[in-house]
Amino acid sequence: MTTNNLPIIKGIGYAIPSRIVTNDDLTKIYDTSDEWIYTRTGIKERRFFASDEEAFDLLQKAANQAIKNAGIDKEELDLIVAATSMPVQFMPSSSCMVQKMLGIKKNVPAFDISVACSGFVYGLDIAKAYIKSGMAKNILLVTIDNCSRYVDWADRRTSILFGDGIGSAVISAGDTSDILVVDIKADGEVGDYITMPSLKGNCPFVDQTPTRQICTMKGQDVYKFVANIIPPYITDDILAKNNIYAEDIDYLVLHQANQRIIKAVQERLGYDDSKVISNIEKLGNTSASSILIAIGEGIKDGKIKTPSKAIICGFGAGMCWGGGVINLRDGIFKQENIFQK
Ligand code: COA
Repeated sequence: MTTNNLPIIKGIGYAIPSRIVTNDDLTKIYDTSDEWIYTRTGIKERRFFASDEEAFDLLQKAANQAIKNAGIDKEELDLIVAATSMPVQFMPSSSCMVQKMLGIKKNVPAFDISVACSGFVYGLDIAKAYIKSGMAKNILLVTIDNCSRYVDWADRRTSILFGDGIGSAVISAGDTSDILVVDIKADGEVGDYITMPSLKGNCPFVDQTPTRQICTMKGQDVYKFVANIIPPYITDDILAKNNIYAEDIDYLVLHQANQRIIKAVQERLGYDDSKVISNIEKLGNTSASSILIAIGEGIKDGKIKTPSKAIICGFGAGMCWGGGVINLRDGIFKQENIFQK
C-alpha cells in the first residue's frame, strides 16, 4: 500500500504510578502548606513511582497501549524514540529498554532525546521528519521522566512541583497529516535556569569532591521566561503564522507546569474552561509526559471528544520549547484498551 508519507498520530497511551503524595504529606517534611502550594501552582497532589513499582513495567504497559490503540503489530515499528531527561537509568537507554521489553525481534533503531518538558513536541517533530523523508513508517515515541528521584528535595520551591509519569504514541505514515503544525525552539543562553550536572568526583586521578546528581531550578526566572515567551509564541508563531484561528481549535493542552501559566494562555486565546485540559491538580508536573497524559486522561474522562484539534505546547530545561496543532482522531485512545485506574 502506498501512502503520501504524511504523519498520522494513530494511537496513544499513558501510565501514572501508584504512590500518591499530597500537599499535606509534604507538610511532614517542609514548612509549607496546601494553601501555599495550591495558590501558586494549582497542584494538590502528585504521583511517584512506588518503591515496589518498576518504572519500566509501566513504560511497557503504556507502549503496548499505544500500539494496541494504533492497531499495528509491534514488529511493524521501525523506529523507537524515548524523550527522557531524568531517566530511570542512563544505559541501556530507555528506548532500547522498550525495544527489549516489547520483545521486538528486528534491530530497529532506538535512541533517547533529552529536551526535558518539551520531549513530546520535539519527538513529534522528529517523527514527522522521519515519516516525510520515507525513513520510517511506524514510530513509537515514549516519554518517561523519573522526576521524584532527581528533584532537589532540599529545596521546597522545586520539589513540590514534580510528579512521575509516562506517555506513549505511535506515529505512522498515511495519506493525511495529523501534525498540522509543529515547531521547536531552544535558547541555551538561559540554560542555567534548570540544571542537572553529571556526577563529578568519581575518577581517582582528578578532583574527588563528591557531587549530587540533582535537578535544581531558578523558579522565578523560569516563571518569568515562560510567562513572557509562551503566550505570544502560541498565538503568533503557532497560530497566526500558519493562518490558523484560535476559535477553529477545540482544545488547549499545554505542558502542565503551573496552573497560572495555563490560565494566562487560556485568557490570551479567549477560551472557556471546557476547551482547556488541565490535570496538574492531581499529577503535578510530569515533565515530558504531561501533554500525552493530559490528552489520554482527557479522552478517558470524556473531557476531550474526538475527532478534534488541539494546540499543544511544551517548555522546560534548555531552555527548550515547542508547540503545534494536532488532530486527535477517533480511536486514538480506545476505552477498551484503558488500564489506568
Ligand atoms: N512552602 C512555603 N513557602 C515557600 C515554599 C513552600 N513550598 N517555597 C518557597 N517558599 C517561600 C520562600 O522562602 C519565600 O519566602 P520569603 O519571601 O520569606 O523569602 C516565599 O515563599 C516566596 O518564594 P518565591 O520563590 O518567590 O515563590 P514564588 O512565588 O516564585 O513561587 C514557584 C515559587 C516555584 C511556585 C514559582 O516560581 C513557579 O511556579 N515557577 C515556575 C516553575 C516551573 O513552572 N517550572 C517548570 C518548568 S518546566
